[in-house]
Amino acid sequence: MADELVNLTIDGVAVSVPKGTLVIEAAKQAGVLVPHYCYHPGLPVAGLCRMCLVDIEKAPKLQIACATQVAEGMVVRTQSPQAKSGRMGVLELLLINHPLDCPICDQAGECELQDFTFQEGRPATRYSPDYAKRFNPVEDFGPDVLYVPNRCILCTRCVRFMEDVAKEPVLNVSERGDRAYIGIHSEGRLDHPWAGNVVDLCPVGSLLSKDFLHKARAWELDKAASICTGCSQGCNVTLDTRENVVVRVRPRSNLEVNRYFICDHGRMNYRWMNRGDRIEAPLVRRGRGGELHATDWDEAFDLVTSRLRGAGGKAVALVSPKASTEALYFVRELFRGLEWSGAFQVVMGEEAPLAGVPNLALRAERAPNGRGAELLGYSRDYAAAVAAAETASVVLVLDEPDIAVRTAGALIYAGTVFPERARDAHAVLPIANVAEEEGTFVNRDGRVQRYFQAKSAPGMTRPAWWVFSELVATLDGAHDGRVGTAAEAFDRLAASVEAFHGLSYAQLGFAGAPAPTAAAVPA
Ligand code: SF4
Ligand code: SF4
Ligand code: FES
Repeated sequence: MADELVNLTIDGVAVSVPKGTLVIEAAKQAGVLVPHYCYHPGLPVAGLCRMCLVDIEKAPKLQIACATQVAEGMVVRTQSPQAKSGRMGVLELLLINHPLDCPICDQAGECELQDFTFQEGRPATRYSPDYAKRFNPVEDFGPDVLYVPNRCILCTRCVRFMEDVAKEPVLNVSERGDRAYIGIHSEGRLDHPWAGNVVDLCPVGSLLSKDFLHKARAWELDKAASICTGCSQGCNVTLDTRENVVVRVRPRSNLEVNRYFICDHGRMNYRWMNRGDRIEAPLVRRGRGGELHATDWDEAFDLVTSRLRGAGGKAVALVSPKASTEALYFVRELFRGLEWSGAFQVVMGEEAPLAGVPNLALRAERAPNGRGAELLGYSRDYAAAVAAAETASVVLVLDEPDIAVRTAGALIYAGTVFPERARDAHAVLPIANVAEEEGTFVNRDGRVQRYFQAKSAPGMTRPAWWVFSELVATLDGAHDGRVGTAAEAFDRLAASVEAFHGLSYAQLGFAGAPAPTAAAVPA
């Protein structure tokens, strides 16, 4: 049954929203952002900062938009003189003790105190410049969290996250009035596997990530929508880059997958994206027993396709479950006509659920695209595939398996770096990493999700889907069948693999969609 709708107007704009919606959420639909600090859609409502005061017709006094539900015929004014003056008073109170730290504060540029002070137009304080502001020393709260109490506006988002979402209530509000601060349990630390979210939730620069401390100013960062590669949950993230270097990973909200949160394992899983020891040109072995030589893509493609044309019998693909669905599809296409088998290897770790959110956990399976590989016919029996490789006529290795591969046939290695084990390869193909290309992963629940390019790829490296689609086109002699973009690569895959029928990049958008025939893995 459809939700019962309630009609109201907000700043003169008529909206219809489901019964029970909070005024602050209804306002977003009218294009109005009501200033707020303690409210966050991922936390229980506290209604304590009073920053979201609005004027509601027929109500005797100003109401807080974060704890007031819509009602039929309600008329809300966020810009009336009374509402503006109410919020101005709240801001004045919040700023009494707030230090003038913006030039040295990591949050500057993405701080809600800066933003709403600017939006509301609070020009100055009535306090004398000689007023001695409250001072408390910085505290170390955990492996990646610093607390700067002077900047704290006591919104309690951090306290509520630890108590109601992480279910590890180690934070509280200690003392009262202008002496209040966020206290941590005497034997507690913010070392819960999901604790880093308090840094994102803090609306000001009071909780800071040690990892990101003084690394960049917010306005120097470029942002790209991506998918975490840390496990099979498929959390939506934003990769922040500064001068082509990934410097921070933050959650991107997706109510179907990770709501507003990411775990600390995923948050810290980005340094490898900046590795300097990359293969930057294709390498080929010319003649028997020769050395590997750097070359161009044409010679590399010619060598690989000549090996594939001459091959008969078995072909084996040993792939990484961190490869894109598009790349895995074209690897499979490359072996069309041969007796092929493909397998992927999954690293396992500890499972760490976020107790307050159903079906959200750091998954034991530390692979973002194992499900995608399975849907494309790759097996989990890696050992069997490695054994089969010994007698195969062609073996293709896609990014760094952790074991040496022995084969009597031709060995083709495609990867981002050049491991010792790849020295026996007949051709080495340099590929982009996840931050340097567009693609899709399928998470454990069968949701197909896009990731976008965050930085440029070094040297002659190319996305793996491009490398393998070019090889397929060269092998077929079908030069007009070339694939120019990741979107086209996905269209080919969606047209020929039943589990992806009907999907396209446009349809997946930023939030992804379930693969039509991929049954979810039981929780
Ligand atoms: S530390 Fe940040 S999130 Fe926690 S109460 Fe203070 S301002 Fe709010
Ligand atoms: S739960 Fe998995 S996908 Fe989500 S942030 Fe953690 S490692 Fe990444
Ligand atoms: S946001 Fe409404 S009271 Fe804090």
